[in-house]
Amino acid sequence: MVEMARRVVAAVDLPVTVKTRIGWGPESEMPIVDLARRLEDVGVAGLTVHCRTAQVGHRGEADWRWARRAREVVAIPVVVNGDVRSAEDAVRALDETGCAGVMIGRAAIQHPWIFREARALLERGQRLLPPTDGERVAVYRALLTANVAARGEQHGVEVTRRHVPLLGPVLGPALRASLYLARTAGVVEDLLDGCRPHRAPAPTEVRA
Ligand SMILES: Cc1cc2nc3c(=O)[nH]c(=O)nc-3n(C[C@H](O)[C@H](O)[C@H](O)COP(=O)(O)O)c2cc1C
Repeated sequence: MVEMARRVVAAVDLPVTVKTRIGWGPESEMPIVDLARRLEDVGVAGLTVHCRTAQVGHRGEADWRWARRAREVVAIPVVVNGDVRSAEDAVRALDETGCAGVMIGRAAIQHPWIFREARALLERGQRLLPPTDGERVAVYRALLTANVAARGEQHGVEVTRRHVPLLGPVLGPALRASLYLARTAGVVEDLLDGCRPHRAPAPTEVRA
């Protein structure tokens, strides 16, 4: 990995960053700390650490302490990744690691509003209300349109179903079965049109 990074750094005129897990596993002392130093030495400009071993896949909790340990031994920015699922997690991850940033993976798909929520909490100390049902439907509709355009109607409709959770705790369960049965974009659109999201407070309003 270090040699690959060295060659890439030498070959391009751009900052080169690396994202990696903490080790293969189940080492007791993870290679990430030594690796961070060595990557910095070959000119890598930044490092993101997914705080799990390769062997565990996505099982178990990410251990953010490894991002802190890597951060402590280098001057380049280190970004902590793994299990940042809410704005509160983002604040806690930064506090606990002293890292330059957090990287959000799965929550970006399941709850794309996490970015504005994290920004509001980090920059202004504000807890935003969850997205309205209208916003949720709008994002689902946009994903449907993009997926159909990119993959054709049948496959586009099918792959969009994996995003049902972003419809939230009310519309998600209410529409799930019908969305899984729908075979055309028109039927999905009709289902979305028919759910008439109730008026909820605007997203920028702050939770009391
Ligand atoms: C569907 C999916 C695709 C992913 N693709 C990549 C990828 O292409 N490159 C990468 O570095 N990490 C990839 N990851 C890993 C994530 O970037 C992230 O490191 C990991 O999911 C842990 O962060 P999270 O707990 O916020 O999801 C992927 C993860 C998922 C679930």
